Amino acid sequence: MTEGQEAQVSEAQIAVHWREEKYIYPPESFIAQANAADPAIFDRFAEDRFPECFTEYADLLSWDKKWDTVLDTSNPPYWKWFAGGRLNASYNCVDRHVAAHGNKAALIWVPEPESAEPVAVTYRDLYRRVNEFAALLRDFAGLKAGDRVTLHMPMVPELPVTMLACARLGVIHSQVFGGFSGNACGTRIADSGSRVLITMDSYYRSGELVDHKVKADEALAEAHKQGQEADKVLVWRRHPGEYGSQTPMAEGRDFFVDEVIGSYRGQLVEPVSLPAEAPLFLMYTSGTTGRPKGAQHSIGGYLAYVTGTSKYYQDIHPDDTYWCMADIGWITGHSYIVYGPLSLGTTSVIYEGTPNYPDAGRPWRIAERLGVNIFHTSPTAIRMLRKVGPDEPAKYNYHFKHMTTVGEPIEPEVWRWYHKAVGKGEAVIVDTWWQTETGGFLGSSLPALNPMKPGSCGPAVIGIYPAIYDEDGNEVPDGRAGNICIRNPWPGIMQTIWGQPERFVDVYYAKYNKNPDSKDWHDWPYFAGDGAVRAPDGYYRILGRVDDVINVAGHRLGTKELESAALTVPEIAEAAAVPVVDDIRGRAVEMYVSLKPGFAASDEMAGKVTQAIEVEIGKIARPKHVWVVPDMPKTRSGKIMRRVIASVSNFADIGDVTTLANPEVVEGIRHHVQSEKVSKNEVPRELTEAEYEEIKSFGAE
Ligand code: WTA
Repeated sequence: MTEGQEAQVSEAQIAVHWREEKYIYPPESFIAQANAADPAIFDRFAEDRFPECFTEYADLLSWDKKWDTVLDTSNPPYWKWFAGGRLNASYNCVDRHVAAHGNKAALIWVPEPESAEPVAVTYRDLYRRVNEFAALLRDFAGLKAGDRVTLHMPMVPELPVTMLACARLGVIHSQVFGGFSGNACGTRIADSGSRVLITMDSYYRSGELVDHKVKADEALAEAHKQGQEADKVLVWRRHPGEYGSQTPMAEGRDFFVDEVIGSYRGQLVEPVSLPAEAPLFLMYTSGTTGRPKGAQHSIGGYLAYVTGTSKYYQDIHPDDTYWCMADIGWITGHSYIVYGPLSLGTTSVIYEGTPNYPDAGRPWRIAERLGVNIFHTSPTAIRMLRKVGPDEPAKYNYHFKHMTTVGEPIEPEVWRWYHKAVGKGEAVIVDTWWQTETGGFLGSSLPALNPMKPGSCGPAVIGIYPAIYDEDGNEVPDGRAGNICIRNPWPGIMQTIWGQPERFVDVYYAKYNKNPDSKDWHDWPYFAGDGAVRAPDGYYRILGRVDDVINVAGHRLGTKELESAALTVPEIAEAAAVPVVDDIRGRAVEMYVSLKPGFAASDEMAGKVTQAIEVEIGKIARPKHVWVVPDMPKTRSGKIMRRVIASVSNFADIGDVTTLANPEVVEGIRHHVQSEKVSKNEVPRELTEAEYEEIKSFGAE
C-alpha cells in the first residue's frame, strides 16, 4: 500500500481478533471407512493439476460421449466444463442404478403426520415414475429440450420425480421454494419464460394441511402482469384422487397429474443425450437489486461437482442412509438431496414437515426408525432443536457417522452441542460454506483428513483456490477480514444469470477482474460477496454478506426486494430493511417505513407492511418489527443510511451522524425503537466483533 492510501483503510481490512478454537479429530472408525482417507487426494487436486484434476469428478458419471476439452476458457467468464461431452442427468441419477440396485430405496419419504408410514421409492419405482412423467411432459405438456418450466412444490417425492423427468428431456427446471408466495413464483415464471407451472394441491406443515394450489392462480396472474402467459398448470395431489384445495381448477388450463398420467402408464422415454454445457436448471436467488437472479447450472459440470463433493465431503457410500433436512427448493436440496446422492446411488431421505412437529424429538425418531447414518442441516435448525429439546437426541437409538451444517455461520457453542448431543460424540462434522451460484461446496474440512475447528468452515475444498482481497484487490494477511474470492473456475460454478449476462459479469467478476479482454482464467477471480478471515492454518471463518443481502435462517433476502414489497402499500413513502441479530434464525429482518403526508402511524399500518411482504415474497421474510418513523436518516444526497437504523435496532453504537442531512431525527428513532424493545424484553445480547462490523457497515455509505 502506498502512502496516502493509508488513510482510506476500509472496514474490510480491520483485524478481527477472536479466539481460535481447538481442533477436534475425526474418530478412527470414521477414517477407516471414509471415501477420502488417503492424503494423496490433496496432491491430485493441487493447483498445478488444474483443471485436469476435475476429470476425477467427471469420471464418476456415465457419459454418452467423453469431453474433448476439460475447461474451455475462450469466452471468460463464461467457462465451459467438459466441452464436447454428452450425457443425461436423469440417466446418471436413475437408470444406471436400476440393474444392480433396482430394489434399493432411492428415496424414503417421511410424511409429516406421524401416523402415516414412511414411503420407500426404489430405484426401479423411480425409473418407472420418472419415465411416465417425462412422457407426460413431452406429449401432454409439449415440452422439449431447452424449454423452461417452473416448479412450485413442497417436500414430496413427486418433486425429485418432476426434476428428473425434466432432466430426462433436457427441459430446464426452475423450482421455486414452496414457502414463497404466489407473486414471488409468478415473477420467476415471467423471468424464466415458463409456459408450464407444476405444483401440488396441498401439503402438511406444522400439523396443518396447507392449501397450495391457491398460489398457482396468484402466480399466473402475476406472470401475466409481467407479460408472460403460462397456459398449463399440472397439479400433483397430496392424496391422489382427493383435492385438498379450495381453489377451482381452471378448465383447459389446470390438470390433475394423477388423472392425466393414466395415459402414460408403462411408457419409457429415452434419456436425451445432451451437451455437457446445456443448462440443467435455474435456481433463483436474491441480490442487491429487486429482480431475482436465476443462477443457471449446467448438466456436466454441475453434476460432476455435486457427485464428487457428495462422495468425498458428505462421505456418501451407496449403502448409506442419508438425510438432508433442507428444502429441495433451495440449492442445498438440489445438490445434496437430489442430484449428488442419487448420482451416487444412495438412499436419500425426504421429510415433508417441520423438524419440531409434533415435538423436538421428531428428527431423532426419524433417524432411529430409518437407520439414518449421515445427517445434514442448518445452524438455525440446530439452534432451534437445542433450545426446545436439548435432551431429546439422547433418548433415541440412532448413530450418525457424519453430520453437516450449512447456510450460515455457526457459533462454536452451538457447534459443540451438535457434536456432543446430536452426534453423540461419534460423528464428524463438516461446516460447508458455499452458495446458490457455486453449485457445491467451496469451504469445508475433508472429514477424514482435516480436523474440525468449531466456528470455521475449514480450508478450501479440493480444487478450489481462494484469496481474500481488500477493496483494492490486494491480498490481506491472515487474521484480517476482507472479501473472499475464488481465483479459479470450477465445474459447479453457475454458467450465467438467466437473461442477465451483464449482471453475471458485473456482480461476480467485474470487481476483481484484472483485464476484461483476458482469456486467462487467472485474471477472473470470482467475488463471492462474503466477508471472511483466514487463520494461519488455512482455515476460513465466514463473516457474512458484504452486500445488501440479509441471511435469515440460511435464506437470502435482498433488502431491495423487501423494500419494494413494503412500497406496494399505498400509504408508504419510504422503506428500509435492516438485519437484527437473532438467537435462533441468525438474523431477522426489521423494516423502517415512513408515511406519505396525511397518514398517521398505527399498528394497522405496520400490519399492512408485514402483509405486503408475505404476499410479495412469502412468510419466511416476515419482519420481526415494522417501525413507522416520521423521517429516515439520510445522507445529503438523499440516500437512506441503513447502517444507522441497523445500529439502532441492534443497540449498537450509532457512530458518526454529523454527515447526515437530518441528524436530528436519529435520537427520536432510537428512543422510540429501543424503549419499545426494552419494554418487550427484546434487548439483544451484546454483539460479537464480527456482528458489530456487519451492522456498523450495513448498506455502507
Ligand atoms: C452464507 C446456501 C457461513 C454465506 C448453500 C453465503 C455460510 C450464503 C455458510 C449463500 C457457512 C452459506 N458458514 N456462512 N457454512 N454457508 N453461508 O445461496 O453468506 O442460500 O454467501 O446458499 O450463505 O446462501 P445460499
